[in-house]
This record gives sequence, structure tokens and C-alpha cells, in this order.
Amino acid sequence: MQQLIEKTTQLLTTAKSVVVFTGAGVSKESGIPTFRDAQEGLWANYDPQTLATPEGFAANPPLVWQWYEWRRQKVRDVEPNAGHLAIAKLADLVPSLSVVTQNVDGLHARAGSKGVLELHGSIARHFCFDKHHQAENIEDGLKEPPLCHCGSMLRPAVVWFGESLPAKVLDDAFRLSKECDLMFVVGTAGVVYPAASLPYIAKDAGAKVVEINPEPTPITDIADVFLPGYSGQVLPQIVTMFEKITGSHP
Ligand code: APR
Repeated sequence: MQQLIEKTTQLLTTAKSVVVFTGAGVSKESGIPTFRDAQEGLWANYDPQTLATPEGFAANPPLVWQWYEWRRQKVRDVEPNAGHLAIAKLADLVPSLSVVTQNVDGLHARAGSKGVLELHGSIARHFCFDKHHQAENIEDGLKEPPLCHCGSMLRPAVVWFGESLPAKVLDDAFRLSKECDLMFVVGTAGVVYPAASLPYIAKDAGAKVVEINPEPTPITDIADVFLPGYSGQVLPQIVTMFEKITGSHP
């Protein structure tokens, strides 16, 4: 593992533009269950079509609202972990670093990362179902969706199954992936598209790809370095060694 971390820090020393592409695994050590893990307890009997589709929401708005309310509560109760913090710190040590995440939990921003591209939206924001009006300051603990000023129900600003990703965010993510010279792929199974195409776009454009995941994924095949481990352990080691090499550490 030490050698792999050294190889990664070497890649960092020449990198001008870094993209860190993350998935549910990066939040795991904060105690955030993945979507599939999250369907535990009283939610175990519902399938994703019921809880995370526009049709599911239209069929039973209070049920879907309460599911997201439960997830929001989980997120409020946890803190960013050492992996999120290391990514935020790395941004101060390289010329340019962008975070592109599939997570909707907002933990990268809470760790200090700036301008995070949220490909699948955020559970902290809302817009209305009919006209996509933005809504602010939604009260906690409501049992059903509040109404927008236009009368439509509010919904979480997450990308549900069957919906398109936010166009501007996706365009920016594609562009950054094409332009970067180093991409970290952290804690994603790499199977949900179009997000999962980003590492291939980076690789095809000549970037090096470093993957951090306890398990190999389809992306492992194109990784220049595969670090088999937990992001909350591996990322801080990379940052510490990089600081030593570059002399940024006192
Ligand atoms: N550190 C790094 N990776 C980890 C860790 C960890 N501590 N723990 C688990 N992982 C890895 C798992 O091995 C797995 O490969 O994180 C990955 C999580 O995979 P998924 O749960 O499928 O999450 P993700 O790839 O982000 O899913 C993509 O699918 O559920 C939808 O829209 C949702 O954004 C989500 C998308």
C-alpha cells in the first residue's frame, strides 16, 4: 500500500488539474447508508420505484416526503469524515481541484470543498414538482410536502430514477473530466450512468486515473493506480505524504 500511495503522490506533483469523482463509499465512514443500505427497517418493504421516481411521488407524496425527511435527518446527525476533509485540504495544495459527486448529502461542502458539482442533486434543496420553482428554508419534520407559491407540491432537488441529470452540472463535469490530468475515483461502484462515464472520458483524454475503493469495480480495469482501502484512511495518507514531498508541511 505504501508504494501505491507514493506512486499516487508522484502523480500529484505533476498534476495541474485534478478531478475527484466520488460516490456513496466516501460517506460510508460518516455513517451515511447508501441508497440501497438505507432501505432498512421500516423502509425495507418499499422498492426504489416507489421512493425515488416521479411516479412514486405522484402516487404517494407523503410517503416519499417522509423517506427523504428521514434521510435528511440522518445526514444532519453525522459529520464529514477524514476522507471528505482530506479532499478539501488537497484543493489547497494543487493548482486546481474540482469535486464531482454522485452524493446528495452535502458532506463535501460541509468539509470545506468549494464549488462541488452535485450530479444527482441535493437532499438539502427543494423545488416544486410542476414548475421547478426553487424553495428555501423548508421546515424540518413535516409529514407531507409543503406547497410552492404556485400551488404545486415541493419535492427534494435530487435526481430520481428516469430523470435527467442537471444539464449545466453534467456539462461542467464532462468538460472538467476531459481537461484534467489526474482523476481520483473514490467510493463508487461505477455502474450508474452517465456519471460512471467520467473516468473513461478522463482516461481517453490522457489523464491518469487513481481509484480508491475496498473492492474492485469496472473502473479498476482502466485505473493507473488502484488503492484497495477505505477513503477515510487512504486519502489522509496521500495528503500527508504529498505535503512532505512538496514541503507544504511545516
Ligand atoms: N471507502 C471507499 N469506498 C467504499 C467505502 C469506503 N469506506 N465503503 C464502500 N465503498 C465502495 C463500495 O465498495 C462500492 O463500490 O463504495 C461503492 C458504493 O457503491 P454504491 O452504493 O453503488 O454507490 P454509488 O456508486 O455512489 O451509486 C451511484 O446510484 O444509488 C444510486 O443515485 C444513487 O448516486 C447513487 C448512484
